Amino acid sequence: MPHSILFVCLGNICRSPMAEGAMRHVSEQRGMDIVVDSAGTGSWHVGDAPDRRARAAALASGVDISGQQARLIAAQDFDRFDQVIAMDRSVFGDLASLRPGTATAALSLFFDHVAGREGQDVADPYYGEEADFAASWAEIMAGAVALLERLGRGSAL
Ligand code: 4NP
Repeated sequence: MPHSILFVCLGNICRSPMAEGAMRHVSEQRGMDIVVDSAGTGSWHVGDAPDRRARAAALASGVDISGQQARLIAAQDFDRFDQVIAMDRSVFGDLASLRPGTATAALSLFFDHVAGREGQDVADPYYGEEADFAASWAEIMAGAVALLERLGRGSAL
């Protein structure tokens, strides 16, 4: 069974779609078979494509995330994926409450997988500028590489 990872943020139109796109891109480049998806804890943007600025930031690295559609996290996600990764501590707290007691997925914070950034949030660029999205994309790409290196070493994350 391939590893499966679900990235989760608030709206599922900025950070977690970028994480999904970055992880898919880097795993394909390295020939690693990983199932990747993303979801949000808030319902405002369900059905929407990623934010235009997130699409542009990813596309500047040749990654097209325009085909994604925002969806809400569901209780079954905690059994369908082996890793559920929150993009910030607030989302982590909400996921810890939503996670059914019997669920099998491990819950973690995105930056806990990046040496030196443990416990930190991927800042929400939604109310920012294009430059904030470019900065988020760069952080998320670096995080995706770190995650894959851990998986490649056989780490349980
Ligand atoms: P995301 O950013 O959680 O990274 O997708 C946000 C997108 C939309 C909203 C908040 C955060 N919103 O309040 O609509």
